[in-house]
Amino acid sequence: MPRMRLDKLLAHLNCGSRKEVQAMIRAGRVQVDGAVERDPAAKVDADTAQVALDGQTQSYQAQRYFMLNKPAGVITASRDARHDTVLELFPEKVRRGLFAVGRLDKDTEGLLLVTDDGALSHALMSPTKHVDKVYEAEVDGTLAPDAAARFAAGLTLGDGTVCRPARLEAAPDLGAAWVRVTLREGKYHQVKRMVAAVGGTVVRLRRIKLGGLLLDPALAPGEYRPLTAEELAALTGRTE
Ligand code: URA
Repeated sequence: MPRMRLDKLLAHLNCGSRKEVQAMIRAGRVQVDGAVERDPAAKVDADTAQVALDGQTQSYQAQRYFMLNKPAGVITASRDARHDTVLELFPEKVRRGLFAVGRLDKDTEGLLLVTDDGALSHALMSPTKHVDKVYEAEVDGTLAPDAAARFAAGLTLGDGTVCRPARLEAAPDLGAAWVRVTLREGKYHQVKRMVAAVGGTVVRLRRIKLGGLLLDPALAPGEYRPLTAEELAALTGRTE
């Protein structure tokens, strides 16, 4: 069984740098097997120890998974000669090997999964897997009265592209001009083009859900954090 220092294990779990996690441990924010541990040098069994930070269980992951609240104005790419990219929101040391799962437009905000797990990315993006993606859109103009029914039936876009059935709902909790759209595919500019097909113009768009993963409302645009063990399980269906 690999025994290692608690601070080293937490750093491996992407909870922070070695220095940062030492401060977290000394502050009493870390529990090992249900008991607060304040010694960064305490030896723990990396395979079996239940380690929690601020009450959230941290699972040992060989691979890395982050949720990013993508801000508007950056492009979903690893590197670009002209534009800032989502990967550049991560420190250089963290960013190595990571990529974004799927793509959001430059002006779209919201939930982006950033990982080094190619198999999960493939599974989430595969059109046969039917992973729901939920968007909130602010819309200019008046939508056709049968807009929701046309979304549900599978809309045909102006250029003849046929979309799979999707859900369109008013979102009065966000404001009179807001709607929620749930898609099971990811065609180019899909929400904007579907809304345009029923008479509206999307003026603001953000993704709030990808499969079982919800955007953490505590994350401001541009901020990211590692997924919790529970979030990863909800996304993969795996329990680790
Ligand atoms: N649909 C769009 O139009 N843009 C996005 O970024 C995502 C979905």
